[in-house]
Amino acid sequence: MKTVFSGIQPSGSVHLGNILGALVNWRRMQEKYKCYYCIVDLHSLTTFPDKDLLEKDKIDTIKSLIAVGIDPNESIIYFQSNLHHHAELSWILSNFCQIGELQRMTQYKDKSESFGTHAGLFTYPVLMAADILIHKADEVPVGDDQTQHLELTRDIAMRFNQKYEDIFPIPARNSTKTGARVMSLRHPESKMSKSSDDVAGTIYITDDDKEIIKKIKTSVTDSESKISFNKEEKPGLSNLIEILASITGKSIKETVKEVSGMQYGDFKMYVAENLITFMSPIRDKYLSLTDKKILEISDEGRDKATITADKTLLEVKNCLGI
Ligand code: TRP
Repeated sequence: MKTVFSGIQPSGSVHLGNILGALVNWRRMQEKYKCYYCIVDLHSLTTFPDKDLLEKDKIDTIKSLIAVGIDPNESIIYFQSNLHHHAELSWILSNFCQIGELQRMTQYKDKSESFGTHAGLFTYPVLMAADILIHKADEVPVGDDQTQHLELTRDIAMRFNQKYEDIFPIPARNSTKTGARVMSLRHPESKMSKSSDDVAGTIYITDDDKEIIKKIKTSVTDSESKISFNKEEKPGLSNLIEILASITGKSIKETVKEVSGMQYGDFKMYVAENLITFMSPIRDKYLSLTDKKILEISDEGRDKATITADKTLLEVKNCLGI
């Protein structure tokens, strides 16, 4: 069975964009792969989160994973900071990575505008390479914004293999089914995001039915009245169509055909109803999970993840002679 690794930052409440863009895909992959899903709290430090918020967000992120159907008996769910192996391998791998490569990372350029040019942000991709290689992952499901980091991981792995022993599989991007790219309901030109300044444009995992209806009803569309799919000219409406297609499992084409005769108002209500059907079991499951249960799950995940991480780290150290 092939191994999958992916990471999610515990920075703010999980929302529809995370669910449709990534987590539904993570759930699906459990059937075919040995999956490691890691809450990357060491990576979060690069953006200086508030201590209490981080503690809460870490727990809530695992709740969200389980709420969408990721099964802790099948997949290994754990906190990155519970395994010393990530940081240790990251140090080792930093010797296989050029400064120039890190300078070319577009996410570094973007994020350093907000958080400064500190070394944590700069070496973020090396830690990410360590995450992936510590479990010898074969495939990594990531969004477009992470493909550059994954490319770098592949280069680092190849260099290590070449210089020492061929121990790392070269990880591929998993794109069996790329998730929907869900945009903000208020600013449909940008992605739905965790940031707290776009609450009205974001459907959170905890939103109740009334909130869902309100947010969809007040979502930005356009001044025409005919439904069609065109991301450039009708970004708001196209986003709603894409959300609907994604939750019903239908194609965009089928979905457009189904709703093409509707008025915008009726269409929005239809989207809201479908969204409630999709989200309410997820929300119920999320709310039913206690913090205590999550800590049990993450302890178990830590123990299981330690087994493979120990093995790889030992192998790496043997190669290096340390
Ligand atoms: N950088 C990723 C993101 O922001 C999170 C992440 C950390 C990750 N380590 C990873 C994703 C390893 C995939 C594999 O989304």
